[in-house]
Amino acid sequence: MTPRRLLIRDLAQVASPAGSDAPLRGAALRDIAVIEDAYVLCEEGRVAAVGSMRDLEPIAGDVEELDARGLSAIPGLVDCHTHACFAGDRVEEFSLRAGGASYEELHARGGGILSTVRATRAASQDELAAVLAEHVGWMRQAGTTTFEAKSGYGLDHDTELAQLRAVAEAGGVATWLGAHTVPPEFAEEGADAYVEFLVRDVLPEAVHVAQAADVFLERGAFDATQARRYLTACRAAGLELRLHGDQFTESGAIPLAIELGARSVDHLEATGEEGAAALAESEVTGVLLPASALFLGRPMPRGRALVDAGAAIALATDFNPGSAFCESLPLVCSLAATQLELAPEEALSACTVNAAHVLDRADRKGRIAAGHDADVVLVAADDWRHLAYHLGGPVVHTVIAGGEIAWKRSA
Ligand code: NIG
Ligand code: FE
Repeated sequence: MTPRRLLIRDLAQVASPAGSDAPLRGAALRDIAVIEDAYVLCEEGRVAAVGSMRDLEPIAGDVEELDARGLSAIPGLVDCHTHACFAGDRVEEFSLRAGGASYEELHARGGGILSTVRATRAASQDELAAVLAEHVGWMRQAGTTTFEAKSGYGLDHDTELAQLRAVAEAGGVATWLGAHTVPPEFAEEGADAYVEFLVRDVLPEAVHVAQAADVFLERGAFDATQARRYLTACRAAGLELRLHGDQFTESGAIPLAIELGARSVDHLEATGEEGAAALAESEVTGVLLPASALFLGRPMPRGRALVDAGAAIALATDFNPGSAFCESLPLVCSLAATQLELAPEEALSACTVNAAHVLDRADRKGRIAAGHDADVVLVAADDWRHLAYHLGGPVVHTVIAGGEIAWKRSA
């Protein structure tokens, strides 16, 4: 039988992080290998070959051809931090906030994370799957071919597990964010008691669906002692570790991430020089979420300083209904270039190979290289850097996932 093949031909450029290391840091982050007038041959869901058109040998047997004149190819984008599995929306809260309402007013009107918790608890497994499928469709149109999504809007046994199952069934990488905030039923007993409940009643099942555990380490959410208890138990059960840290205040997330050997520490808007230096010397990847800082009108994470200090960084959307209703990694790349002082090359590495590293998939995702999964985004320009240059524009032309055309812009 002839293998299933797709030849993407006559590309203006193929741009992909050079080499095979992960995560990339320092000067290596900028090292994008660009082949002009190029092709990518996909076979059985993998990249079989990539090269210059003049080196393309005749292919025997059946092959589907995709004429990519005027387009450039980058690796399928990897969104390593989303909260895409939620019901309802927070448009009311958004409008009030935009009009100047204070946090207290929003809280009094039932806003914030807990309003999404109410909507998510009320949704059935099928409803959750349907809304996640819609969100995954939005992400795919923006060029995301691999996504992570967290729980954290259930905060009870059944809904946390329903969220994790929905993510896994949608083909995502599931992260258990049981420790997102303390739910109302634990208001009196408090965060310590809630963490004990999570570890005792939810972890034994979450471990079978989730790849990693995550905690919101922040004033008003969980402190470093509670985060350590939760993460240590999760690590012992076999989960990898992630942390939401330094979003509003420096609360010890970087030292804790390093101490526990976490995969990543995410947000870092409030990280100072000492934290940046510690992160740079560690194996922990810093995941920057500029869409969230923009959406909340908060200071941007210091991308340039982190990269110059030698930290491994990734970029992600933080897609969620409250602090970043944004599923677009191309927009995040534009924000990285305009707000974080990162070159488009650094931004591309950060949301491909380094994001794949955060999800422990850099051996198959994040590069257009022989043997890697055939996940390719065709950018609607003959220079791939339009990905970051076109602010909020329709830069994604075609999305190929596993060697199949997953989405194509209508003519
Ligand atoms: O990453 N910081 C905590 N959690 C989310 C926001 C979740 C929400 O507002 O629903 C974040 O920004
Ligand atoms: Fe988040």
